Amino acid sequence: MEIAAILNKPFGWRCSPNIAIVKYWGKLPGQLPASPSVSMTLDQSATETTVWFTDRLKVVEFEFDGNPAPLFAARIRSYLESVSGLLPWLLQVGVRISSRNNFPHSAGIASSASAFGALALCLADAHKHLGLVDGQQFYPLASRLARLGSGSASRSVFGGFALWGETPSVEGSSNLEAIALQPVHPVFNRMHDMIVVVSDQKKQVSSSAGHALMNRHPFAGARYEQARQRASLMPDVLAKGDLETFSRVTIAEGLGLHALMLASDPPVNLLHPLSVEVIQLADQFRLQTRLPLAYTLDAGPNVHLLYPEEMKPEMDRFSREYLAPLSGTVKIINDFCGAGPQPLSVQNND
Ligand code: PMV
Repeated sequence: MEIAAILNKPFGWRCSPNIAIVKYWGKLPGQLPASPSVSMTLDQSATETTVWFTDRLKVVEFEFDGNPAPLFAARIRSYLESVSGLLPWLLQVGVRISSRNNFPHSAGIASSASAFGALALCLADAHKHLGLVDGQQFYPLASRLARLGSGSASRSVFGGFALWGETPSVEGSSNLEAIALQPVHPVFNRMHDMIVVVSDQKKQVSSSAGHALMNRHPFAGARYEQARQRASLMPDVLAKGDLETFSRVTIAEGLGLHALMLASDPPVNLLHPLSVEVIQLADQFRLQTRLPLAYTLDAGPNVHLLYPEEMKPEMDRFSREYLAPLSGTVKIINDFCGAGPQPLSVQNND
């Protein structure tokens, strides 16, 4: 291994956030999940990150949107230390990182998955350039590195749908890294995510504090078993294009996550009155049209409406008619199922 091979070369990746279908909520030491989770990676929203390795030993510089961000740099420094067991050469270099999101911070989209996904891909890319990982192990390594930054980020290094966490019926599933779920029926490959942003306030509860609530949660055991069962359904649901089961599980998971938070000690209420209103409108629409519109929420108030391409005309009508009373109070971001991360064109290191 010749460290000079990676010095002062740009390693750049674009990575999108994901929306969890089966939620990861509760963790074990070592950033391991207490139960498996499944998500869909988005397309339009993305973080773009470029990393340069320098000879300024252990110096970590981080700029976000072109401006130095020393607070983030401190978090990245401890992250880099935490992955140096997997990438020992990191102890021999300095790191300069430039990152930007193409979605506004106020969009209410969790950015840690795309941020750590993009950074992990850059690190894995350098590892590959040093001849330390082959093409086949590249994404598993990137997923493992991403997981150590943010659990849900482990799933963002794959396009389509990904599963993270040991699931006996799913071959290759692991707590250490996510895997892509395949095959996926075309109805899911063209899944839309209409994000109804009801609040762009900063998260009231950090995700680590949220996961910690599960440590002494009275329903933890039942919840983990439920997540295992639901995760084990997903390969078949996705392969068969079973929209009914998909929407039933997606809705139950989004509402169930908030139910768990409400039943925590102390109780945490991250719902906004408008979240409830959007959910009720979606329920009315489902009842009136009998269409399998799915919706979910992560640990925040914004509602993700998931629907297949075939439902687009009906969903345009949903926006026009059902959401009309909320116009001016909510913001809509339209995204869809993505094909996965892409190397940035700055890359000239092959
Ligand atoms: O990756 P974290 O630690 O930010 O946790 C993410 C938790 C949820 O977004 C609520 C669920 C999930 O599986 O993404």
